[in-house]
Amino acid sequence: MEVIVRPDTASAAEFTARLIADAINEKPDFVLGLATGGTMEPVYADLARMNREGKVDFSLVRTFNLDEYIGLPPEDPQSYRYYMNYHLFDKVNIDKRNTHLPDGMAKDEAAEGERYEEAIRLAGGIDLQLLGIGSDGHIGFNEPLSSFSSITRAKPLTPATWKQNSIYFNPPEAMPMRAFTMGVGTILESRRIVMLITGEKKAGITAKAIEGPLTSMVTGSAIQMHPNVVVVLDEGAASQLTMRDYYDWIFAHEPKWAPYR
Ligand code: PGA
Repeated sequence: MEVIVRPDTASAAEFTARLIADAINEKPDFVLGLATGGTMEPVYADLARMNREGKVDFSLVRTFNLDEYIGLPPEDPQSYRYYMNYHLFDKVNIDKRNTHLPDGMAKDEAAEGERYEEAIRLAGGIDLQLLGIGSDGHIGFNEPLSSFSSITRAKPLTPATWKQNSIYFNPPEAMPMRAFTMGVGTILESRRIVMLITGEKKAGITAKAIEGPLTSMVTGSAIQMHPNVVVVLDEGAASQLTMRDYYDWIFAHEPKWAPYR
């Protein structure tokens, strides 16, 4: 795992967008795993700008999102399909037929999980999975105690997650209590992981996920088992890390980071 700390939220997001764009430029029919949430909004704005400027081409890119609320149709403004169309897909030259999320309205939940796993397999697997982290340490909606070998399935959200995200719903009680999510195992099968965390509020959970013990109580800690991970942080999110000197040393001296310094 490598940890890159940028001075502020905007530059952390821009760095993340650049990593993604550079990866797509190396392999145009890229399979990109996507995440939602407030953290990712500036990343998608940067990717849309780079696409407008001709710096990245989405025409052959295929995408798979981490999760979707159960019970919300795609046209619901709180659905993650709506979020993705609004923040990225409607703003870049992607073919929407190549964009995938679990179907929140699927009647047969077990079949939907299997269908999604199969779709990822048929696409050749995920080249790069973008991740955020929840305040409870979740990646996707893999809430505490999710197995590290879990696959896409329906998952009950914790009361804390429900409360945190319900502010976006009107009324707040309309927030679903369950979601389809890729499993921790699905995420670990991707060829590369880029995790972006910003804000001092996440400093504690960031330190637990990156430097703490492997535990399903913090499913974000599972990324420690993946051989190809970059974690991008702003100063706030990085403020409780103990090995900070080492992370900065690597970024300052490793040749592969020279173009990004
Ligand atoms: P956030 O969500 O970016 O809105 O904080 C992250 C998450 O819950 O995974």
